[in-house]
Amino acid sequence: MNFLLNPQFRRIFCLMVRQNFSKECEDALNKQINMELKACHAYLAMAYHFDRSDVATTGLFNFFKQASLEERHHAELIMEYMNKRGGQIILSSVPEPKASYVSAKEALIEALNMEKEVNESLLDVHATGAKVNDPNLCDFIETHFLQEQVDGLKILADFIRQLERAECDLGVYLFDKYLLNAHMHNKAK
Ligand SMILES: [Fe+2]
Ligand SMILES: [Fe+2]
Repeated sequence: MNFLLNPQFRRIFCLMVRQNFSKECEDALNKQINMELKACHAYLAMAYHFDRSDVATTGLFNFFKQASLEERHHAELIMEYMNKRGGQIILSSVPEPKASYVSAKEALIEALNMEKEVNESLLDVHATGAKVNDPNLCDFIETHFLQEQVDGLKILADFIRQLERAECDLGVYLFDKYLLNAHMHNKAK
């Protein structure tokens, strides 16, 4: 008999790895995984809006597509961590993102607000880890997420200000060219 096919045995096997990992932390991480996937979906919708032939801003397309891939990577990083800690991953449905944007500035403002929401949720995960004395979880969040969020917020805020200065068709065209070499954690040179 293959014991790994027995669900009860598999559960016990999973619990063997579990140590100092509370249900509270497990729930907070599941919430975070779904938040990262929601951001991945929203950035993907933004990217392909800017790829439309009547919009055609390649720099914004590249920027948001790369941001979407990064959010997917964040979700998978947490999923990998959940399995290391012996938690149960629970994925929920992802809300439908906005289908189109009136301007690049509108999309960047939405991205900034979304990143603030993600950051707030990460800080909640960290606070939960600290409350139940789970230094490994706090270290994981600090190492992989917190600084990246702060960097991302600064870049998005800078882009919004630069767009405000360039608010005309030519300005948006030039801004888009500038974005061709930029991504969420690295400004164009
Ligand atoms: Fe993220
Ligand atoms: Fe992000």
